[in-house]
Amino acid sequence: MEPYFSRLVMLALAVSAILLQTPALASPECDFPAIFNFGDSNSDTGEHIFQELLPKADYFSRALYTFDIGQNDLTAGYFLNMSTDEVRAYVPDVLDQFKAIVKDIYDQGGRSFWIHNTGPVGCLPYVLDRLKITAAQVDEAGCATPFNEVAQFFNRRLKEAVVELRKDLPFAAITYVDVYSVKYSLISQAKKHGFKESLRACCGHGGKYNYNMHVGCGGKKTVHGEEVYVGKPCNEPAAWINWDGVHYTQAANKWVFDQIVGGSFSDPQIPLKLACQKRLK
Ligand SMILES: *[C@@H]1O[C@H](CO)[C@@H](O)[C@H](O)[C@H]1NC(C)=O
Repeated sequence: MEPYFSRLVMLALAVSAILLQTPALASPECDFPAIFNFGDSNSDTGEHIFQELLPKADYFSRALYTFDIGQNDLTAGYFLNMSTDEVRAYVPDVLDQFKAIVKDIYDQGGRSFWIHNTGPVGCLPYVLDRLKITAAQVDEAGCATPFNEVAQFFNRRLKEAVVELRKDLPFAAITYVDVYSVKYSLISQAKKHGFKESLRACCGHGGKYNYNMHVGCGGKKTVHGEEVYVGKPCNEPAAWINWDGVHYTQAANKWVFDQIVGGSFSDPQIPLKLACQKRLK
C-alpha cells in the first residue's frame, strides 16, 4: 500500500478565487479585493487553479484567505479502514501541514486568515452510509457520535494550531470560526431553521441516505444495456441541508454564512468585515 499521507487530501484542496467588487466603504472595514478559499467541505471546483483568473500581485497581501479543512483528512483514514485511534494519531501531522501552508502564504504576503473548524462529519450521508455504525453510536440527531468526536478532537487541536500561528506570524490576523457548532445546530434542529431534510442527500441515488458511493449525484446506471440517469436532484434543494452526500446545499451554506458573518462564533469575536490586519506590513 502506498503511504497513506500521500492520499490525504489536505494539499489537493480545491482552490477557488473570488474577485470582489470595489468595496463601498474603506476604513475601518477591510477592503478585501479577493478571497482565496482553501476548502474541502464548502467548495469543489474540480481541483483546478485557473491561471487566467489569477489576480493582481498586490491582491495577495490584501486578500482574505479562508480555510475549511479537516473533513477529507479525517474521512480518508476511515475509508482506508483505520481505527479511530489511528485517525487521531495522524491529526498532528495534518495540522503540521496546515500550519506550514499558512506560513507559506504569510511568507508570500498573506495577512488575513479566516479559518473554519471542521463540521460534524458524523452527520454526513457518505459517512453514515459507508462506515460501520452501531445503534448505540447514533445520537438524537441521527448522527454517528464516534466521527463527530473525532471532528471535535481535530477542532481542539486546530484551535491550538491557530494559537501557535498567531505567535509565529506577528502581522497576521487569524480568525478561528466554530462552524461545527453552527452546522450541528442546523442539522439537529433542521425544522426550526426552515429545512425539511437534515441527513439525506438531495442529489443521489437510493439507500437510507439517498447516497450510493458507486452512483453519485449526476450518475447513470446501465439497465438492460441502456444508460439511465438515476443520480437526480430532489425537487426542493432549498429545503434540504445536504446536497450530494458530501457537501451542503447552497441554502445550508448560506444559512451557515449568515450565522458566522457577524463574528459571534469567532475567536476573536470580530465580524468578517473586520477580519483583516490593521498593521499592514
Ligand atoms: C476495507 O475493508 C473492507 C472490508 O474488509 C475491504 O473490502 C476493503 O477493500 C478495505 N479497504 C481498504 C482501502 O483497505
